[in-house]
Amino acid sequence: MEKYVIEGGVPLYGEVEIQSAKNAVLPLLAAAVLTEGRVVIHKCPRITDVLNMAQILAELGFSTSFAGDDLIIDGADAANHEIPAALAKELRSSVFMLGSVIARFGRARIAYPGGCDIGLRPIDLHLRGLRRLGVNISEEGGYIDCTCSRLTGAEIVLDCPSVGATENIMLAAVRAEGETLIRNAAREPEIVDLAHFLNRMGVKVYGAGTSNVRIEGVKTLRGVEYTPISDRIEAGTFLIASAMCGGELVLKNAEAENLTALIHKLCEISCKIHADNGKIEIESKGRVSPGLVETSPYPGFPTDLQAQMMALACICRGSTVVVENLFETRFKHVPELIRMGADITVRGRSAFIRGVPSLKGADVLAGDLRGGAALTLAAISAEGQSCVADLSHIDRGYSDFEFKLRALGARIRRVRV
Ligand code: UD1
Repeated sequence: MEKYVIEGGVPLYGEVEIQSAKNAVLPLLAAAVLTEGRVVIHKCPRITDVLNMAQILAELGFSTSFAGDDLIIDGADAANHEIPAALAKELRSSVFMLGSVIARFGRARIAYPGGCDIGLRPIDLHLRGLRRLGVNISEEGGYIDCTCSRLTGAEIVLDCPSVGATENIMLAAVRAEGETLIRNAAREPEIVDLAHFLNRMGVKVYGAGTSNVRIEGVKTLRGVEYTPISDRIEAGTFLIASAMCGGELVLKNAEAENLTALIHKLCEISCKIHADNGKIEIESKGRVSPGLVETSPYPGFPTDLQAQMMALACICRGSTVVVENLFETRFKHVPELIRMGADITVRGRSAFIRGVPSLKGADVLAGDLRGGAALTLAAISAEGQSCVADLSHIDRGYSDFEFKLRALGARIRRVRV
């Protein structure tokens, strides 16, 4: 296991380049299954979720290799349709492979997916959507088996706007006969990016970014070279780091329009933010409480920034209520923040935070990806020394996290335990 050793209490100054979005790249890698042509993902972050997804592609018979920051995928000879349990359990996005593997090979076998342990995370909407397109699905012994002789377009109404279910259904529908309409689709920027990618492969996807996504299936999809959108959650993490530590940051390759809920909150707590042409500048002064932070699907406040925002609320003047509406058990960072001197009470899906002047260094344990990022920010802003373990969670989603933070002035190093 590895951990960060952090000496806190320094402001952050300088420029940081934001990576391509983890949650955009993962479905694009699933989409690569759909073509026998060559797919190149430019500026592909080397995070473990991406590396695991590339390994799943290799299991299916695709060749994958990095050339600099480009991930090159070639699927001319791919013929397998089974995703083994050991890999599927490493990351939840393996489930996105269902739609594309069925679309390409007419069948798929996949172990139930893993990923962050932040609640029940069912996949019923994925499976119901695929059944509507004509897939026969049986579930046994921890595996999902899918077969279909042909996919047929259909109207699918999602009970809730699930990101993964929307993407999975899109990936199967591209090879269906006729038109598919997904109602109550997720509207996240990553869905729009997937639609752009599929359109470049020769599919016709309309309405991505709205609640109604329409897909006209095609028989073959061509290879594509593509640069994914920037990671709004990594950008948000650095903005919150700045608000917690003080100083001035410039984020490059960052799209403010995908982060309006967070930027609005940060302006309310008296950060000065200027965004222009793929850059976001932030200057952090005093911190007043953000009042209420309630997570909801895009364009609401992202659940993936809830933990980081809570860490910030811990050192704001006044009280804050954080309500987590998407995932049942996404408060694993709370006991760790309390170890650092935070004053937090949890009742069900709500956390009540009374701000303290500063957090104190402590040894803490990351329980999931974003919680781990939140604890790292807490440690960087805290008085004294902290250790943040287990970095495997953080490595799933942030490339070069400690290098980027160190370049901004943070005193942080990685140590093997
Ligand atoms: C994606 C993101 C994750 C983010 C989440 C919400 C990726 C790789 N991951 O996860 O970082 O936190 O969106 O923005 O893009 N649900 C069901 N049945 C289903 C599917 C989902 O009830 O079949 C529920 C979930 O329990 C949850 C809600 O829908 O309460 C949203 O989940 P969903 O949007 O599917 O999240 P993921 O796609 O897993």
